[in-house]
Amino acid sequence: MRLPFVLARRFVAAETFADTVPVLESLHSGGLHTTLDLLGEYISDWKKAEEAAQIYAGLAGHLGAFSDAHAARNMSIKLSMLGQKLDEHRCETLLRGVLDHAKANQVFVRLDMEGSDITESTVRLFERVYPDYPESVGIVLQAYLHRTAEDVARMVALGARVRLCKGAYKEPARLALQDMPSIRKAYLSYAEQLLNGTGYPALATHDDTLFDGLKELVSDRDRSSFEFQMLFGIRPETQKAFVDEGYQMRIYVPYGDQWFPYFSRRLRERKENVWFVVSNMFRS
Ligand code: FDA
Repeated sequence: MRLPFVLARRFVAAETFADTVPVLESLHSGGLHTTLDLLGEYISDWKKAEEAAQIYAGLAGHLGAFSDAHAARNMSIKLSMLGQKLDEHRCETLLRGVLDHAKANQVFVRLDMEGSDITESTVRLFERVYPDYPESVGIVLQAYLHRTAEDVARMVALGARVRLCKGAYKEPARLALQDMPSIRKAYLSYAEQLLNGTGYPALATHDDTLFDGLKELVSDRDRSSFEFQMLFGIRPETQKAFVDEGYQMRIYVPYGDQWFPYFSRRLRERKENVWFVVSNMFRS
């Protein structure tokens, strides 16, 4: 059974790219930057992986038509959508195809980080393609994973662009920190290391406690050397306040009809969202 899109529309821009374009334009006109995400993950057959790679290659062309490259030419991709779990080498070939189009259109591609079952594979794939596309590809690291201390050091040594987030998947204590104060402490320590590197870090969170710590960390830094990132539909007034304060703020804009896993992660993060969604269903 397909659920109606109205459920997801607070967090998902639209079901098609054509309907997403006005959303992107409206965010840009408010001084926000964007990264576009075609929803879909953990696909289980090659035909779907190849289709996804083709759509992403086409998206690179569409985004290349936006005149403000820094604001608009940016997309996020989940490698599990390119068949990572089926065959890592074939996935790399598809990824390289997408990156060729991205490079030709001056589009930046961020590899989202998914569950810990594919963290090592994602870092490995990233390190394999990075030397050929240093300006076009970046990665995400999750502060809650114990391994991230090492991954941050590896990425700083490479000079790679990292988006730092807390981590959205349910992970066991042997792999990940479980309590918020420890996750925040790790996040701030990694943020400082990334800011001291050369890789234009993206600080992705909606957490006021982290914002206080991060603003202190960046107080003496050139604001063009890093950016904040938030998700579409979450705390839009805070997104705007950052722009008004002179920070760069990029919004992660998901679109597509495969919105359910993304949507359910957003609900899990905050129980108030369940009520928000239910009450809006009855309003529309
Ligand atoms: P936290 O969850 O503590 O929230 C702080 C406050 O923000 C809440 O009190 C509330 O006010 C608001 N808030 C947070 N989540 C909300 C929600 N769903 N709805 C409404 N309000 C909410 N994860 C991952 O594993 N891999 C990835 O690649 C990415 N990519 C990514 C990109 C971007 C741009 C962002 C902002 C986040 C991600 N994440 C991610 C998700 C991230 O790991 C994390 O799960 C969420 O950002 C929630 O954690 P916060 O740091 O926002 O704080």
